[in-house]
Amino acid sequence: MADHAASSLKLSLADLRENYTQGGLDEAAVDTNPIAQFEKWFAEALRAGLKEPNAMTLATATPDGRPSARIVLLKEVDEAGFVFYTNYESRKARELRENPRAALTLYWAELERQVRVEGIVKRVSRGQSEHYFQSRPKGSRLGAWASHQSAVIPNRTSLEARLKDLEARYSEIEDVPLPEFWGGYRVEPEVIEFWQGRPNRLHDRLQYWRDQDQLWQRERLAP
Ligand SMILES: Cc1cc2nc3c(=O)[nH]c(=O)nc-3n(C[C@H](O)[C@H](O)[C@H](O)COP(=O)(O)O)c2cc1C
Repeated sequence: MADHAASSLKLSLADLRENYTQGGLDEAAVDTNPIAQFEKWFAEALRAGLKEPNAMTLATATPDGRPSARIVLLKEVDEAGFVFYTNYESRKARELRENPRAALTLYWAELERQVRVEGIVKRVSRGQSEHYFQSRPKGSRLGAWASHQSAVIPNRTSLEARLKDLEARYSEIEDVPLPEFWGGYRVEPEVIEFWQGRPNRLHDRLQYWRDQDQLWQRERLAP
């Protein structure tokens, strides 16, 4: 049974294949500024009603080059970069402390689009983290306090017990302080690539990078 399931999974994986037909990426039509182009694509992802279009894969690596990746949510984007929030004692944070470089990938399947970002990672200011933290629902703020993200825990009950304690302690208090171990990171982009699926695997790829004068340049890559 298990063998049969494994071989049919193998068959169907090999057969899964999309022909991308939704559109193209034309040098003349894209913005010369990749952040503006990202905002345009993001607005289109929102308009298309995609679920969590701000979910992105964040890849980090140890100094000796062992990569790890996970999904985080994009919470702010502007000329300075792409911001996500997390626990500063998590595995990703440990890796970023020792090797402050990261790659991000967003994939919008329904639009047949991918965006890739690479750059240097820095913590956002305490003020900015504070502002975002206080905008979160109380349950999420208490959840940040309750979880030593990436640590091994004995069971789920211990986690729920911690949250219960916190809920009791803050039952009358709305103002949950920002934990010193929690906040944002900004990926300051050095390279941004826009990928649009096209028929017959001849996809469009436009890659932007900053030159010595920090001006964005652009080139087309083979798919
Ligand atoms: C849709 C989705 C959104 C997530 N958003 C975040 C996020 O914004 N911040 C975060 O720390 N973890 C987020 N996570 C959890 C991470 O993927 C990961 O489990 C966690 O950050 C621990 O990663 P680490 O041990 O590599 O540090 C999200 C997971 C999913 C599936």
